[in-house]
Amino acid sequence: MKPSVLVAHPLLPEADALLSAAAVVELATEAEICPREILVAKLRDKDGLLSLLVDEIDREVIDAAPRLRVIANCAVGVNNIDVGYARTKGILVTNTPGVLTEATADLAWALILAVARRIPEADRFTREGRFKGWTLGLFLGRDLAGRRLGVVGMGRIGRAVARRARAFGMTVVYADPRPLPAEEARALDARPLPLDELLAAADIVTIHCALTPATRGLLSRERLARMKTDAILINTARGPVVDEAALAEALEEGRLWGAGLDVYADEPRIDARLLSLPNVVLLPHIGSASEGTRSAMALAAVRNLIQGLKGERPENLVEA
Ligand code: GLV
Repeated sequence: MKPSVLVAHPLLPEADALLSAAAVVELATEAEICPREILVAKLRDKDGLLSLLVDEIDREVIDAAPRLRVIANCAVGVNNIDVGYARTKGILVTNTPGVLTEATADLAWALILAVARRIPEADRFTREGRFKGWTLGLFLGRDLAGRRLGVVGMGRIGRAVARRARAFGMTVVYADPRPLPAEEARALDARPLPLDELLAAADIVTIHCALTPATRGLLSRERLARMKTDAILINTARGPVVDEAALAEALEEGRLWGAGLDVYADEPRIDARLLSLPNVVLLPHIGSASEGTRSAMALAAVRNLIQGLKGERPENLVEA
């Protein structure tokens, strides 16, 4: 008998086809957010769950699913899942690392360039018919060459962002509890620094750590105050890593030059001050959103789910 699986949101067709061949599939919702009551009710008789990062899989949801054996998250981050509790119930949790590294690093750089060169502002200006001719002082931005990039979290994505920095002529410093192996640090030309020193030294700070209890609020008000007043902050990781209210204040008061954000403390809500500031570029959490990457993520999540349901060790098992 095929296992029974709940898919929290519509998948891409290729992933749908792969999953339907291996399991009896029920779709929880067509909506962006799957109401919690639906998730809880529909999980009662399911062996597997394919979730997205917007689905909060906490104790209550897990307790409502007595047959559940695998939760396959279609994301690299698993902060939406109580992984420790799932493991105590014998439930495997999987994620989709690796396949989204390059796309996310590209987006971090898109934000760096967009903020440093004020691209959205200049685009709006041009469309509004306000371009009346070349002038020396029009939309002056920040140079990248010769500046210092500070990478917070030197995992796969942090390293991919650091690799690209060389092409822009930037030097790289990084903060991570686990220093890079010497050979990799040499290849990336990246120097480790304690976080507080990195914040004081970097011209652009880009966040690439996972959201865990240790990184929640890591860029606190005090730490943001250490950054240079002409620095730029980029966050494509998770919103709660940064004190968003303190960031908005610093930007409003000119204590930072600009910010590029793809993630927010309480998605999809965005702080009204951030929405109103011209020196902030805001994206709707699209770090991994390229056609090829999203397809690879959905397929990886489905493969993980099928492997776990077959009693095999899934390719991307998350250790609690
Ligand atoms: C996206 O934010 C992910 O964790 O994959």
